[in-house]
Amino acid sequence: MDSLSNIHLAHRATEVTPFLAMEVMERAKALETAGQEVIYLCLGEPDFPTPEPIVKTARDAMAAGETRYTHSLGRIELREALAEHYHQRYGVRVDTEQIIISSGTSPLMLLLFAALCNPADNVILTDPGYACYPNFIRFVGGEPRFLRTRPEHGFQPHPEEVKTLLNNRTRALLINSPANPAGSVLSKNELQNLAKLPIPLVSDEIYHGLTYEGEEHSALEFTDNAFVLGGFSKAYAMTGWRLGYLIAPKSAVRALQTFHQNVVISANSFVQLAGVTALKECDSYVAEMRAERIRPPP
Ligand SMILES: Cc1ncc(COP(=O)(O)O)c(C=O)c1O
Repeated sequence: MDSLSNIHLAHRATEVTPFLAMEVMERAKALETAGQEVIYLCLGEPDFPTPEPIVKTARDAMAAGETRYTHSLGRIELREALAEHYHQRYGVRVDTEQIIISSGTSPLMLLLFAALCNPADNVILTDPGYACYPNFIRFVGGEPRFLRTRPEHGFQPHPEEVKTLLNNRTRALLINSPANPAGSVLSKNELQNLAKLPIPLVSDEIYHGLTYEGEEHSALEFTDNAFVLGGFSKAYAMTGWRLGYLIAPKSAVRALQTFHQNVVISANSFVQLAGVTALKECDSYVAEMRAERIRPPP
């Protein structure tokens, strides 16, 4: 404790480990400001500007006064567009009342694990995996149970190995396909088998739209017992806009919504309208960005 201060920080505040990719980016920005040339390889961030129709929608919406709080689940236009997107792309029916829009997927992860875990409950997740997941789980008093994955399984969880970690305090299996950092994609068969496990899936589908080989599948094709996290940051080059969503089983929505109303209130109004444009008008931009390859120097 600072001898001149009476501030005691709680353990949960001091035990969160820094998000190292952000630390590297912040250091790189400082070097750039000091005049050094920097190539950014630190964060999962598309090297493209946000597609113009998305920018235009946000600009017009702001000018038209779309600058107020919205429904805490998110604007109905965006929830309808997402329900349509899931139907078109994966053939699944999602009710607009199952969708919670927020300022990126990250705050939704915190809300979700807070809703799922009592102290000492556990969530199974892969090692390697996205570095922030265990921090969210620990922050709410839960225990991350790591499944050491294997290269022959594409660093994805294998159902038989997941079973060895299950106990009566296991609240979910967290999956991520396409995966950070491995880049691997779960096949239909693999996802189907994981969906048969006797615990809910939390499926982080943020990298959907950026699959380079094979098909993308949503966990919702194989089970209703899943929480799907998705967002606009990666496929639509919208990292700084902060827009994401959670699709939850109906029985869990009210608790999540209540928490969301208190903590976030709602995502930005005009950014949500920009998300509608992304879903409805920007497939070709996503395809172009995906097709871009690093060109050899001339
Ligand atoms: C696997 C994974 N999930 C979620 C996020 C965060 O997404 P958002 O920008 O929607 O908060 C990232 C960011 O790098 C990520 O790699």
